[in-house]
Amino acid sequence: MSTLQQETKEDLATVEHIHKAFPTSEWWRTAVIYQVYPRSFADANGDGNGDICGITERLGYLRDLGVDAIWISPFYPSPQADGGYDIADYRDVDPMYGTLADVDALIETAHELGLRVMIDIVPNHTSDEHPWFQAALAASPGSPERARYWFVDSPGLPNNWPSEFGGPAWTQVEDGQWYLHLFDRKQPDLNWENPEVRELFAGTLRFWLDRGVDGFRIDVAHHLIKAPGLPDFDGDWDAYNRGTLPTNAAPFADQDGVHDIFREWRAILESYPGDRAMVAEAWVTPHDRLGRYLRADEFHQAFNFDYMRATWNAEALRQQISATLRNTDAIGAPATWVLSNHDVIRHATRLVREDQTMAPWILEATEPQPEIELGLRRARAATMLMLALPGSSYLYQGEELGLREVIELPAESRQDPDYIRGGGFRLGRDGCRVPIPWEKNAPAFGFNSSGKSWLPQPEDFGTYAVDQQHGNPESTLELYRRLLAIRRERGLGNAALALVNLGPDLVAIDVTSAHGTTRVVLNVGHVPWTLPRDSRVLAWSACGETMEVLPPDCAIWLA
Ligand code: GLC
Repeated sequence: MSTLQQETKEDLATVEHIHKAFPTSEWWRTAVIYQVYPRSFADANGDGNGDICGITERLGYLRDLGVDAIWISPFYPSPQADGGYDIADYRDVDPMYGTLADVDALIETAHELGLRVMIDIVPNHTSDEHPWFQAALAASPGSPERARYWFVDSPGLPNNWPSEFGGPAWTQVEDGQWYLHLFDRKQPDLNWENPEVRELFAGTLRFWLDRGVDGFRIDVAHHLIKAPGLPDFDGDWDAYNRGTLPTNAAPFADQDGVHDIFREWRAILESYPGDRAMVAEAWVTPHDRLGRYLRADEFHQAFNFDYMRATWNAEALRQQISATLRNTDAIGAPATWVLSNHDVIRHATRLVREDQTMAPWILEATEPQPEIELGLRRARAATMLMLALPGSSYLYQGEELGLREVIELPAESRQDPDYIRGGGFRLGRDGCRVPIPWEKNAPAFGFNSSGKSWLPQPEDFGTYAVDQQHGNPESTLELYRRLLAIRRERGLGNAALALVNLGPDLVAIDVTSAHGTTRVVLNVGHVPWTLPRDSRVLAWSACGETMEVLPPDCAIWLA
């Protein structure tokens, strides 16, 4: 028997087919979407804060990277109490970022380059500087102005709900009433039982659709509706944070009423020409609860945070891949995959933290500095697995450079309310928001030409700079470019997937499209895996090692 036959026999015994390809022309089903955090991406006017013109100037870089779309985090007028997720006007642009005309120009340039544009909608709360909240403060208890928010009378705290950023979710105003804020006290929750609130957002979606956006990312979609009577949460808060509790156990999350809102929004999107899409940021577990957001008349996609939470463990990864595909296939929705965003510890750091079951957004002040080199190695390998999975993938700016979490930021520079309200126990999310290094030997590493930066960039950021990686075949940037090109050529976004059992510490999948089968192997163990002799290597994540074995913490794509 030849080697090939032996392998074929072995494969037949150990392959589990879990997903089939299907005909589709809808871009969002297979898209790779790149998240731009505007304050930290590129700063055209040199004030130390990124801006819309900076993004427009770098769209060519994103086209060359090989992504299909960008999602831009909020750029609306905001006091920046929560990085722009505290909005004072949903239909304008913060002067720090530019003007509406700049956004129009960005959309136009992106479309010329073949990139779609998604923007962020934050419907759970406004800023306390929004005219509605200012009017509510000026009005009396029981007034229509207060009825747009959750103002209640209570002798003490109205219930035991905590703010996501620490402390209670309630603040008392001068006349004695309390208002609800699941996040910072400068982010009062809107009352979605109020028709005016619904009208504000239906109009806001239309406003941006009219300007040509291709879709929306909907912030904390699972929080909009609260259980009647605002009862105490008696569940286990730690289990809720670790994602091991069905989310609707909490009276402020995943309540059934949210779905009516999204049905109305889907109808608005459908009334526009083109193929517009919305993605839910819904921290909802388990998978079947998340599936409810993906029914045919609701969201097109939802972030798959269960996959993001998977630990560096073969069984955990396999289990998340099959649970995801099983759930999304059952409802005809695309799977999505994500490893990093502006809220969580960058995966080049997270994948080597001691307790990987911790909520990915919680960075405790006492956590030791994780190993940087091993972190990058794992991050590259994890990305190789993710970008081969069928469905849509999200990238977060800077991960294509292998950026690490900057956990050593000086206390006085930190701005995240999660740090400020967290009493010093949590470091917050600034460490994944440090401005992007473009050129090693330029002011602010090329983020602008003035050298200013709203968060200080650490010295080693220069080694990650785009100009250092461009053209170097071993760099993380070139790895991402190669993976995205192969993904496109081989149709990996819409392919069949089979899990292959090659051993307990290997995650192996066969991804099959009309362009052939790509075998992906990720080694999360401690022992190298011997490569099959008759395969062709399409890409691999290791650096400076000979390609005879797949070393630990590395991944490979084979044809
Ligand atoms: C979402 C955003 C996060 C923000 C929160 C409140 O989770 O991604 O950055 O702090 O909502 O708007």
